[in-house]
Amino acid sequence: MTATHEFNLKVNGREVSVEVEDRKLLLDTIREDLDLAGAHAGCEHGVCGACTVLLDGVPVRSCLMFAAQAEGHEVETVESLAEGRELTTLQQAFVDNLGLQCGYCTSGMLLTAKAFLADTPDPTEEEVREAISGNLCRCTGYEGIVQSIMAAAKG
Ligand code: FES
Ligand code: FES
Repeated sequence: MTATHEFNLKVNGREVSVEVEDRKLLLDTIREDLDLAGAHAGCEHGVCGACTVLLDGVPVRSCLMFAAQAEGHEVETVESLAEGRELTTLQQAFVDNLGLQCGYCTSGMLLTAKAFLADTPDPTEEEVREAISGNLCRCTGYEGIVQSIMAAAKG
């Protein structure tokens, strides 16, 4: 018999209750049980950052956490950013500065950048590069991403 666990957490500002297998990953729970497909499965080994979400405002690899570890915490996914079709300044900066191509890394990049800018609102390019160094992008060469985050910081 498979052990399951029912618990509450806050997701994108909403209290939700889920019942999942004890061994189920947070990434799979977000995608399969909460129908939020913005967090992506890349390496599933904690290397690429495609699965990044915010846990109480801090970027985490959702492929390395059990869903049950999020009990009582607040999870933010990329779906929390835009208001309907209205993009945030950060999202619009990615559009305007070629911060994405295929988009696979983008949700993780945006959430990493959001948390970074909350702590460091006026960063240097070097600080931006350091901040996103745990998020891999196979398309852009990173320059557009760095310029997007710098532009977002300037508002
Ligand atoms: S899918 Fe989680 S770090 Fe790559
Ligand atoms: S835009 Fe394709 S992986 Fe980053």
